[in-house]
Amino acid sequence: MASIRKVAVVTGSNKGIGFAVVRGLCKSFDGDVFLTARDEGRGQAAIADLNKEGLQPKFHQLDINDRSSIERLKSFLLSTYGGLDVLVNNAGIAYRNADPAPFAEQAEFTCKTNFWTSTWSVFGRVVSVSSVLAHTAIDQCSPAVQGRFKDPTLTMEGLEKIMQEFVDAAKAGRHLEEGFPKSAYGTSKIGKNFMTVIQDRDIRKDPREDIVINSCCPGHVQTDMSSHTGPRNIDEGADTMVYLALLPPNTTSPKGNFVADRSILQWG
Ligand SMILES: NC(=O)c1ccc[n+]([C@@H]2O[C@H](COP(=O)([O-])OP(=O)(O)OC[C@H]3O[C@@H](n4cnc5c(N)ncnc54)[C@H](OP(=O)(O)O)[C@@H]3O)[C@@H](O)[C@H]2O)c1
Repeated sequence: MASIRKVAVVTGSNKGIGFAVVRGLCKSFDGDVFLTARDEGRGQAAIADLNKEGLQPKFHQLDINDRSSIERLKSFLLSTYGGLDVLVNNAGIAYRNADPAPFAEQAEFTCKTNFWTSTWSVFGRVVSVSSVLAHTAIDQCSPAVQGRFKDPTLTMEGLEKIMQEFVDAAKAGRHLEEGFPKSAYGTSKIGKNFMTVIQDRDIRKDPREDIVINSCCPGHVQTDMSSHTGPRNIDEGADTMVYLALLPPNTTSPKGNFVADRSILQWG
């Protein structure tokens, strides 16, 4: 019987750094690479661009804020590949500084997209795309809130509770009084980083499966999100993500870490 091919999925990869991660994986991953996009047309246009480079990614629609879209991809992967070998959790949003949307809305939507949708089950190699702005944001938290995030017994349920408290406080206009940061984006990425720490702790309780999860920062990259500022092009930004996605069997380090420029940065 033919063995099932390996499969990698990159969320939010019709443009920006995710697009470059698909490009990098197509060149070096031994299996099928899925470019995913919430909009089918934008996704297919990105596939056509990579085809022109001689690369053959596959496409699947995925809106990480749409439960039924997630379920469709999940059942497709299970029936076709028996699971998932590499997940690059890249999709994300950031409001611009000048955006007139109320902070309450920004907090809720940013955390929904950047944090809650990342709390899925874990697979062989998981790359959770975060940002060094999480470091700035944790420094802005009160000692009490920092202590709650950094509690070594914190569970996913506990982390989700803290994140919900941030959103609720933002809606009440009290997030600063309650010791949270002023940045919705930074707070969503604090959540993403501690999620990695907690998931890694849980994974280590069952060493039978070779699962490695890390969070990372791509650096300051010229994309729509950064208004095309920053010193890095998308391939340079994707480098650490591709490196983490391809970590070899039985990797012990980096594991459960925050990584930038292929190096572990102390976090939390
Ligand atoms: N650029 C930087 O300097 C920088 C620095 C640190 C960290 N990061 C992180 O790197 C990751 C990629 O950012 P980027 O700079 O490449 O941003 P980008 O160019 O704005 O691309 C973001 C991607 O996420 C997708 N996306 C947004 N919401 C989605 C949803 N609900 N479902 C599925 N896809 C969705 C977008 O799709 P649409 O085209 O449909 O909107 C797009 O493909 C993000 O997690 C970001 O926080 C970026």
